[in-house]
Amino acid sequence: MLAVVSLALIAILPRVSGHSAFWHPSMFGFNVTDKTFPYDNRPVAPIKNMNFTEWWFHNHLDFPPNDGDIFELPAGKPATAQIACNKGATDFFASADGGDIREPNNMNDPCPNSPTTAYHTNGFDDLKGCSLAIAYKNDARAVQPEDFTVFSVNHTCVWTRFTDFQVPARMPPCPEGGCICAFFWIHSPLSGGEENYMNGFKCNVTGSTSNSAVAKSKLPRRCGSDLPNQKLQDVPANCTYGAKQPFYWFNNELNNMFEGTFSPPVYNDLYNFADGAQDDIFIDSYTQLPDPAPNAALPIVADIAANLPMPSININITSPLSQSAPYGVDDDNSTTTSASSSGSSSYIAKPVMSDSHVTANIHLRRRMNRSRLDIHRRNKRNIVW
Ligand SMILES: *[C@@H]1O[C@H](CO)[C@@H](O)[C@H](O)[C@H]1NC(C)=O
Ligand SMILES: *[C@@H]1O[C@H](CO)[C@@H](O)[C@H](O)[C@H]1NC(C)=O
Ligand SMILES: *[C@@H]1O[C@H](CO)[C@@H](O)[C@H](O)[C@H]1NC(C)=O
Ligand SMILES: *[C@@H]1O[C@H](CO)[C@@H](O)[C@H](O)[C@H]1NC(C)=O
Ligand SMILES: *[C@@H]1O[C@H](CO)[C@@H](O)[C@H](O)[C@H]1NC(C)=O
Ligand SMILES: *[C@@H]1O[C@H](CO)[C@@H](O)[C@H](O)[C@H]1NC(C)=O
Ligand SMILES: *[C@@H]1O[C@H](CO)[C@@H](O)[C@H](O)[C@H]1NC(C)=O
Ligand SMILES: *[C@@H]1O[C@H](CO)[C@@H](O)[C@H](O)[C@H]1NC(C)=O
Repeated sequence: MLAVVSLALIAILPRVSGHSAFWHPSMFGFNVTDKTFPYDNRPVAPIKNMNFTEWWFHNHLDFPPNDGDIFELPAGKPATAQIACNKGATDFFASADGGDIREPNNMNDPCPNSPTTAYHTNGFDDLKGCSLAIAYKNDARAVQPEDFTVFSVNHTCVWTRFTDFQVPARMPPCPEGGCICAFFWIHSPLSGGEENYMNGFKCNVTGSTSNSAVAKSKLPRRCGSDLPNQKLQDVPANCTYGAKQPFYWFNNELNNMFEGTFSPPVYNDLYNFADGAQDDIFIDSYTQLPDPAPNAALPIVADIAANLPMPSININITSPLSQSAPYGVDDDNSTTTSASSSGSSSYIAKPVMSDSHVTANIHLRRRMNRSRLDIHRRNKRNIVW
């Protein structure tokens, strides 16, 4: 119902307003307009019900960036992207059809003069997150769907034009010529119909200090509490940990997600995508990574201190619980963490591992009423059990 209403709203808005894309000269399709293809295939146009060649890279592989245009990913630091419903709303307005449409009073507006439903959210609480994925290949045509690994997520995307994506500290260098990246977004089911967004771009990891390869990415799983679907609790053992593929959903070919219209896969805790850097995507991130299932054993995070060139604070965690089993039993039913969230996706497993200055260790607690995987950074000296 709501979806129908907002679709109708979007239909009456001028064409410049609506949807969203990642904008940068490094992207494929930077200058594609609504006239370039027989159909509207602007980078902001949503993707659904398409054959593979139409949806993959937004069918923009024939529109590569100019030589030398590359989006830099500084290891351990944020990369700031510009996400907007129109190129004219970005710093790259000079090559936009309608020129500069940025909002002078709010240069961070992703879609000037439009309601938030134009970029598919009923408000801040209805944001579902977006992601950047990377393939360690320098030729976009060689990239296959399973080559992408999500390395950074922003849960409050699309809300502002300038959107920070934290780059994992341990990202290895790209091959000569750089890597291939892509922006992925699936919006709230309450603000518009089912759609995917994908924009490919050339990227390069800078300041790399690690040679640990990114692990082969796996399918994300719907493991968080899911109130609209009457699932009241997180099921941490059902989550995919480590390197995860982006969602390919609602097309005719090569989907990897098959959720229904009103249960889209989204880049947040519902699918164990932590906000920020996906620090556990490397081949050595876990010492044990069981196949996920509601009753499976939980994974064990590796102590990666040895792999880091930076000095790290080493605190030995000596609880007997951590020696014998990945579970700690905590009989405190009341949770005092800031973990709960008001939205449909609550805080769940967050295998955030470390940045270059800290090492991470894992502490799994099973509460009577709330199971979650809890990771404590070792540089926090007060480790509470
Ligand atoms: C998509 O693929 C189907 C099945 O191969 C084919 O019948 C259809 O014409 C294709 N559509 C387009 C737009 O290429
Ligand atoms: C996009 O258009 C601008 C302005 O015409 C041009 O300078 C730039 O080279 C074009 N970029 C690509 C990748 O075609
Ligand atoms: C998401 O982007 C916003 C806007 O740039 C930024 O304030 C926020 O810190 C980012 N979130 C993360 C986890 O980096
Ligand atoms: C990628 O970054 C590395 C490290 O800064 C640099 O040596 C390399 O030339 C860059 N590659 C491209 C294609 O920009
Ligand atoms: C476990 O994950 C699968 C795959 O996403 C999902 O279909 C199923 O509903 C999940 N079950 C539980 C109990 O979380
Ligand atoms: C931690 O404690 C264990 C058991 O006492 C010991 O074997 C191990 O060497 C210690 N590790 C560090 C990093 O101090
Ligand atoms: C935790 O909940 C269980 C089940 O409701 C109850 O029996 C137990 O007393 C509770 N423990 C604490 C510490 O509140
Ligand atoms: C916790 O779980 C127990 C047993 O599953 C249940 O009886 C109790 O009502 C729950 N408590 C809360 C606060 O949800």
